[in-house]
This record gives sequence, structure tokens and C-alpha cells, in this order.
Amino acid sequence: MEANMPKRKEPGKSLRIKVISMGNAEVGKSCIIKRYCEKRFVSKYLATIGIDYGVTKVQVRDREIKVNIFDMAGHPFFYEVRNEFYKDTQGVILVYDVGQKDSFDALDAWLAEMKQELGPHGNMENIIFVVCANKIDCTKHRCVDESEGRLWAESKGFLYFETSAQTGEGISEMFQTFYVSIVDLCENGGKRLATNSSASFTKEQADTIRRIRNSKDSWDMLGVKPGASRDEINKAYRKLAVLLHPDKCVAPGSEDAFKAVVNARTALLKNIK
Ligand code: GTP
Ligand code: MG
Repeated sequence: MEANMPKRKEPGKSLRIKVISMGNAEVGKSCIIKRYCEKRFVSKYLATIGIDYGVTKVQVRDREIKVNIFDMAGHPFFYEVRNEFYKDTQGVILVYDVGQKDSFDALDAWLAEMKQELGPHGNMENIIFVVCANKIDCTKHRCVDESEGRLWAESKGFLYFETSAQTGEGISEMFQTFYVSIVDLCENGGKRLATNSSASFTKEQADTIRRIRNSKDSWDMLGVKPGASRDEINKAYRKLAVLLHPDKCVAPGSEDAFKAVVNARTALLKNIK
């Protein structure tokens, strides 16, 4: 990548940015930051009390970036302490634990808390969010798979990384991409670049994949009433196939959803004379 960069003689201006961490208690926010800044991992849980603050310097292209990191406590008890730290943020590290479905489901509530604290004039559009699906080393307990996490993140225009603060997997790639995106944002007058802000699939596709994942049986999956006719089943199938066909749909999880729809149709038609 460096080889393609223009060779500039003048060093770029230094930049000061603010990033915050968000997510439920115990998902690994502090450990992710510690792994990146101090190259170490602590297995004992030391809950963050209110807020931890640190400064670190990073190099992005030819710019020196001074990063102010506000590591928030996830516990609801600390809401009063953390609520004043949402303002003037360029980047958010949004973390969940892949072995704790609750922590994934809570991501929307974290966004809502931030939005509420920023008030009616706050603009979340021009903040870089990176979602960390953390603790991927705990493979046995994993209950939120990659496509589910990636779909949630990318449908909102957020970055997505699979991470382990314990092994270090994904951590430096995540921070590198995160900081480059923030510098791009700053160099673009504080506005997110178009390529970062829009997903390459539609909301309808994302919602349909989520609905298919959560469906309770084949009827439900195809969106038809139990006992529907062959024609109704085929019509529903065709509509979903057009929407989710892997040649047409790049949304995470579309391939599995498409296969599930094919299987559901086959199973239902088998029982119709
Ligand atoms: P609060 O400060 O209470 O909001 O929690 P936090 O999100 O900062 O969690 P913290 O980083 O303190 O980590 C919580 C626990 O998870 C600790 O026991 C860590 O050792 C453990 N942990 C964090 N990241 C990982 C990981 O990637 N893998 C594993 N196996 N454990 C992790
Ligand atoms: Mg913490």
C-alpha cells in the first residue's frame, strides 16, 4: 500500500481525535484497548469505574494522530458518569461478546443512548463506528456468528471486525482501518466518505435475511400461511430468490438464507399432492 502513496516531502499536519468505547459490561472493551496500546492481556476482570482515559499517538499515512481514548464502563450503574462523554467524538469502538447474545442485542440500545445524549442537533452520520465481535477465541461458547454480526454492522454503514483481545487476532487490523477511516473523515471536512456511509445491499435484503434466520418453520420462512397452495409457495419463493440470489445479493448471510429458502420450498412442495 505504501508503495502507491504519493511521495510528499512535507510532513502532514498532526491531528487530534477523540474516540470512545461502548458496549455491555465485560465484553472486553478495556482489554481490546490494552492489547493495542500495551500489547498485553489481563484475564482477571477489572470493571472500568465510570471512564478510563488515555492518550496514544499513531501514524496514518504521513500524519501523526493524537488519539484521546475514553474507555467507558458498560455497567448501567455508570450511566450518569459516561453520558457527558459522548460529545465531540469522531470514532466509536462498539463491542460485543460473540458468546453473549444479550451483548449483541444491546448494540441498538447503545446507539440509542448515544443519540439521546447528543441531543436533537447531534449528528451520528459523521462518526466512524467500528463493531468488534470480540472473544472469538472462545469458539465453544460462540452464539452470534460472523454473518449475523457483519450484517448488523454493514447495514448501518459501520466497519466490522472479528477480534480477540486474548490472542490479539484482528486487533491491529481493526485499529488501523478505524484510524484511516477517521483521518479520511477529517480530511473530508468532517463528513464520512460516500463509500463508507452506504451499504452495498438494501435494507430490504438485510431485513429479509434477519427474518429468515428467525423464522420458526418453513411456512414462516417463505412468508406464507400454513397450508398455502403450490402456487402461493412458488410465488413467495420466486420473490425471495430474486432478492437473495447470491449472484445479486452481497449482504452477509445471503448465501445461507438463499439455501434455507430453497430447502424450505422443497420441503413444503414434497407434502403437496
Ligand atoms: P466494563 O469495563 O465493565 O464495561 O467491561 P469491559 O468491556 O471493559 O471488559 P474487560 O475488557 O474488562 O474484559 C472483561 C473480561 O473478559 C475480562 O475477564 C477479560 O480478561 C475477558 N476478555 C476480554 N477480551 C477477551 C477475549 O478476547 N477473549 C477472552 N477469552 N476473554 C476476554
Ligand atoms: Mg472496561
